[in-house]
Amino acid sequence: MRDFTRSLKYLWPYRLRIGLALLCTLGISVLWAGGLAAILPAAKVLMSSEGLHGWVYRLAASDRLGVDLVSYLPPERTQLQGQQLSWVVAVGQPHRSHRNAGALLPGQWVVGLEDGDVAHRFLRADALLRLLAMQQPDRRITLRVCRSDSDQITLLPVVTSTLTLSTQAMLWLTRRFPEPRTFADRFPILLTLLVFGIVISILRDALRILQEFLSSSAVWYAVNDIRNDNYNVALRLPVGYYAKHGTADAISRFTYDVGMLARGLITLLSKTLVEPAKALATLALALILSWKLTLIALIAGPPAFLAIRRLGRAMRRVSRQAMLSMSQMLEVLEETLGGIRVVKAYTMENRERRRFLRVNHQLLRQNLKVFFVEALTAPIVEALGITAAMAAVAVAGYWVLHNQHDLDAEKFLALMACLVAMFDPIRKLSSVSTVFHASDAAAARIRELHDAPQEVTSPGAPSLPRHRRSIEFRHVSFRYDGTSDDALRDVNLTIRAGENVAIVGPNGSGKTTLVSMLPRLLDPTTGQVLIDGTDIARCSLRSLRRQIGLVTQDAVLFHATIEENISYGLHRSQPDKTRRAAERAYVDEFIRKLPEGYGTLVGPHGATLSGGEKQRISIARAILRDPAILIFDEAMSQIDSDSEHRIQQAMQEFSRGRTTLIVAHRFATVLAAGRIVVMQAGRIQDSGTHDELMSRCELYRHLYATQFIATGG
Ligand SMILES: Nc1ncnc2c1ncn2[C@@H]1O[C@H](COP(=O)(O)OP(=O)(O)O)[C@@H](O)[C@H]1O
Ligand SMILES: [Mg+2]
Repeated sequence: MRDFTRSLKYLWPYRLRIGLALLCTLGISVLWAGGLAAILPAAKVLMSSEGLHGWVYRLAASDRLGVDLVSYLPPERTQLQGQQLSWVVAVGQPHRSHRNAGALLPGQWVVGLEDGDVAHRFLRADALLRLLAMQQPDRRITLRVCRSDSDQITLLPVVTSTLTLSTQAMLWLTRRFPEPRTFADRFPILLTLLVFGIVISILRDALRILQEFLSSSAVWYAVNDIRNDNYNVALRLPVGYYAKHGTADAISRFTYDVGMLARGLITLLSKTLVEPAKALATLALALILSWKLTLIALIAGPPAFLAIRRLGRAMRRVSRQAMLSMSQMLEVLEETLGGIRVVKAYTMENRERRRFLRVNHQLLRQNLKVFFVEALTAPIVEALGITAAMAAVAVAGYWVLHNQHDLDAEKFLALMACLVAMFDPIRKLSSVSTVFHASDAAAARIRELHDAPQEVTSPGAPSLPRHRRSIEFRHVSFRYDGTSDDALRDVNLTIRAGENVAIVGPNGSGKTTLVSMLPRLLDPTTGQVLIDGTDIARCSLRSLRRQIGLVTQDAVLFHATIEENISYGLHRSQPDKTRRAAERAYVDEFIRKLPEGYGTLVGPHGATLSGGEKQRISIARAILRDPAILIFDEAMSQIDSDSEHRIQQAMQEFSRGRTTLIVAHRFATVLAAGRIVVMQAGRIQDSGTHDELMSRCELYRHLYATQFIATGG
């Protein structure tokens, strides 16, 4: 659960909301217990012969005399006068704190009372209890007492005590109602209690809404922050990360995994605060009613805890797999929808459908496992709980039937209600652990994103002055992660500032890899790249990249206007410069013909433009940047040779004073370069002018014959 706990720091800024939510939680649990506490008086009203008033008087009388009292009819064999009356019997141990402790003994019958001048020789239990309840504290009264097995009445002087606070409150509340004479008279009291229950539950629901709003808004704000953080991290990850893991995986971590984490946080703030509070409040009530029975019911705790822990671990495992499947599915989606033209053109729909079916089915299976584990939890806990509750019922039943432990039927009922009410929150809580484990797995995947090595943006690194002298590749080797061959092997190449170098070579010879070293999209595995004698690994990335204009084979356009796409990389728009750059890239004429000109919106990824148009726009973008170093990586592969020729001329003028590296296939472009570097299998085979290479380099001649001529150069 470490990762989940760590993600809690995102909640910290919203602690005020959470604090208020906690207050609401407290209120909810108090009201919850309050509602439950109303069950006992309701049961008294409805079921017991003594009724609510009788019960409260009995409690008060017990307080006054310091020993628990119940009323009974005397056994038939008693020879006592007035044996048709019910009498008060002391049960249980005397209240320890009471001053009469020891005076009235358990099992003694109180049959009458002498109170000052008034003497009640024999008094019915309910009347006697009422009289006792109404006594002032610290008064000297004399009880008439006997034992059930003798008819010997003795006088027992006692001093009355004060009532406990709760008894006082109950007495006060009860006396708001007229004492019912018949059972039918009790109905208004029952109604009042029910209305009380409704009011309490409405209040509780209102608090619940507030609590839920406060806590879930805190979570959504936190999730918002997590996403922002993730995005910052995603932007800082090196190109190699995406080459290895794909973008779909990161997207999945952004969406699905963050959603899972959010679920955990919401659960934490809603269920995990409210339910334990409710469970504890109920537990307190149950303990007050009968701590022994409550403890018996709690024996289910440890095995339930163990079960929950095991299930939590299982949950972590399966939900991690589910998230993996999710990212695989996104990967397939991204690939096939991104390449929908090829899929259709090659009528590969069926194969792609099968591929999708496979990953989707895998996701289904993983999700089913997740839900299975989730579904298992509550019933297991419930079964354990019910077993324990039944054990408590058995014991309680024994006590009720054997008149032990001051447990009457109503109290038993109220206690059972409490135990049932306690299981509800516990049952809800049992699934919490599994949710947390799923969340933890999600948080772990998000952390992996954060822990992946980022591009080093050492803040103190010196900035690289504008390039003026040279670029040098010194013993540069590079190997892609997860491959067994070097893509570059000990490349040494020095380029003077202002030089125009063409790089040629068969596919896969490492041309793209080599030029990617300059803006540090890739870093050499061994060796160094130096600009003006400074190792670029030691300079600030920003100052390095600001000097480089990069145009790649697949031009990258964003869903924005053409103007915005060209001036991408400038911090404010400069229409004049934009236009001039477009002219140089031979795209101005085309743009002007569009109905909305530079304001034309290109589709996502520039989908509404042709490959050549996109490339020319991205060349304009590079030109506008006014870079010291210009890199064209097959940037003109989709431009017709006529335009290329003209761009070539414009470029010659533009590249004056700039160092230019051009990876190209076309003869025209290659010829225009001052020097040509021939690469093969990650090595530099040879370099020189066209004529030199033609005379001495077999590979170059071969390339010239096959590529340059074949591509119409
Ligand atoms: N992301 C990658 N992961 C693993 N291998 C790669 C990756 N990109 C390129 N390669 C391999 O590195 C070698 C050089 O590739 P590249 O520089 O793109 O060649 P070129 O641009 O000359 O066609 C090739 O063998 C290619 O298969
Ligand atoms: Mg390439």
